[in-house]
Amino acid sequence: MNDKERVAKHAANLVQSGMLVGLGTGSTANCFIEELARLRKNEGLQVTVVASSVVSMLKARSLGLPLMAIEQLQQLDLYVDGADEVAPDNALLKGQGSDLVKEKILARSSRQFIVLVDQSKMVERIGEKFAIPIEVMPFAWQLVKLQLEKLGGKGELRQNGNGLAISSYGSLILDMTFPKQLDCGQIDSMLNELSGVVEHGVFYGLVSTVLLAENGGVKEIVTPKSV
Ligand code: A5P
Repeated sequence: MNDKERVAKHAANLVQSGMLVGLGTGSTANCFIEELARLRKNEGLQVTVVASSVVSMLKARSLGLPLMAIEQLQQLDLYVDGADEVAPDNALLKGQGSDLVKEKILARSSRQFIVLVDQSKMVERIGEKFAIPIEVMPFAWQLVKLQLEKLGGKGELRQNGNGLAISSYGSLILDMTFPKQLDCGQIDSMLNELSGVVEHGVFYGLVSTVLLAENGGVKEIVTPKSV
């Protein structure tokens, strides 16, 4: 069993019958979806799922997991997803894929948010390895970029092979870095307040527990109450 499978199995064992579970997006979330489907088939786990992306929806459907549309959602019991970076206070950076809007909505709607990572995702500060993805309304990208530059931000629109990258919901994506003096909470508040920003990849104060694959086992890192 590899690290992703190990944390995915650990998380799936925390799911109780009757739960409504949100499915993240990415290779680690895929392992969780597979394990959840296995528990449903082999051990009779009763579960309904809501997907954060078309990819996760198709995966869940192909494995026979009962799906609820996000439009019908009122509250989730549990959301399980991977991350691109995890800071010591369990703040996350997400959105290297193009599905962060639904990921953030599910994370915010859930009683518990469990994040599955290995050591390569652990950082001292958010933004250490990746720029922060910021989804912007296409017509507002330049105004948002100028506002962010006034606050010390630097970055560009994300490109794909042929031109500009477009998120799953039709936004452009600014990948921005910020001065080290700005902490994660300040960056989160600043991005939450800017008009034209659809959503951004800083997940601050949303995580319940990080499951970290370490030394062939799984370490549970519960978010400190002060965050
Ligand atoms: C998707 O937009 C991202 O936030 C993913 O959660 C992240 O990239 C983790 O993916 P892996 O599990 O494939 O590393």
